[in-house]
Amino acid sequence: MTQELPPPGAVKPYPEPDAAAVRELLLDWCGAEPEDAEDAAAALAALDGPAREAADRLYQSIAADMGGRKWLPWPKPPGAFPLLGLYPLLAAVPDMLAFHEGRGVDEDLSRRVLADVGEKLRLNRRLHGRAGLDVANWFTGHVRGALYQLGRLQFCVEGPGPEPTVGVHIRGEGGPLTLDAVRDSVEWALEFFPTVFPERYAGPEDLVFTCESWLLDPQLRDWLPERSNIPGFGALFDLQGPGGPAGNRADLWRFVFARAEDAKVADLPEDNSLQRAVLAGIRAEVPWRNRLGRLNLARLGF
Ligand SMILES: CC(C)(COP(=O)(O)OP(=O)(O)OC[C@H]1O[C@@H](n2cnc3c(N)ncnc32)[C@H](O)[C@@H]1OP(=O)(O)O)[C@@H](O)C(=O)NCCC(=O)NCCS
Repeated sequence: MTQELPPPGAVKPYPEPDAAAVRELLLDWCGAEPEDAEDAAAALAALDGPAREAADRLYQSIAADMGGRKWLPWPKPPGAFPLLGLYPLLAAVPDMLAFHEGRGVDEDLSRRVLADVGEKLRLNRRLHGRAGLDVANWFTGHVRGALYQLGRLQFCVEGPGPEPTVGVHIRGEGGPLTLDAVRDSVEWALEFFPTVFPERYAGPEDLVFTCESWLLDPQLRDWLPERSNIPGFGALFDLQGPGGPAGNRADLWRFVFARAEDAKVADLPEDNSLQRAVLAGIRAEVPWRNRLGRLNLARLGF
């Protein structure tokens, strides 16, 4: 995989951030915790030559595809450097800001999209007990200008063709997934994408929203309490295909239980109704699946 990345310096010089810049970007732009910012600044000094070269190549892959779709298939970070992907992402923040400015996107939205970095650093600390960014490549969507946080939901330009579909993503932080919050976000997206990408979308009628998630599994309806927002969110989508037969353990462990994938079922927390419901299903051998769906705009009143 690393072989597929552009070589160091191939597109533009890698503006490797120094420790002060890492700290400042994480605290002021990404909403990170002080201990994550400190650990990331300290870990920068520990990178060896090959790791620095790898970070340069990751940065080149961003710089070569500004305005591209989805996120890039980066290799997993080496065990010794769990924050390796963070540095090229931070180095690309000025590229992202320039892209946003060129498209008329407010700085407020640039800040909002970066807040996801702080969240995922917090999640990594919960999962692994240390600073890390295990899905650093996810943020290549953010810094290349493909993904935006509009209210409660994230939207990412994803699909192929001249009018790419827009993927719907849901951060953990940001409050309950109420229908009102979803409606407000989708309304914003219907206006935002044709304005920011007029060459792709002539108007709201060109937008097709898709989502692939554990949240769309209709089996959840039978297990969650009536007050839960999740089945109502899932019911907004027309499902496509049966979902992968292998199930979605990795996602449930991460998003529902905030546990590393090797945690035993007996050790999963049962602190709230969602965790209790999903765990009851696991014990009853319910084949939980991620499902793919297309948002039915009429169900939101559009
Ligand atoms: C999607 C999400 C925001 C829905 O939250 P919500 O609207 O509060 O959901 P519900 O109405 O079903 O809440 C039911 C219960 O889940 C709990 N809950 C909410 N977010 C939770 C989370 N991240 N992890 C564990 N439990 C959570 C609530 O506290 C509530 O418990 P209670 O009834 O004991 O008070 C939430 O599940 C979440 O943050 N998930 C992580 C992000 C994610 O899964 N994204 C999709 C990736 S594909």
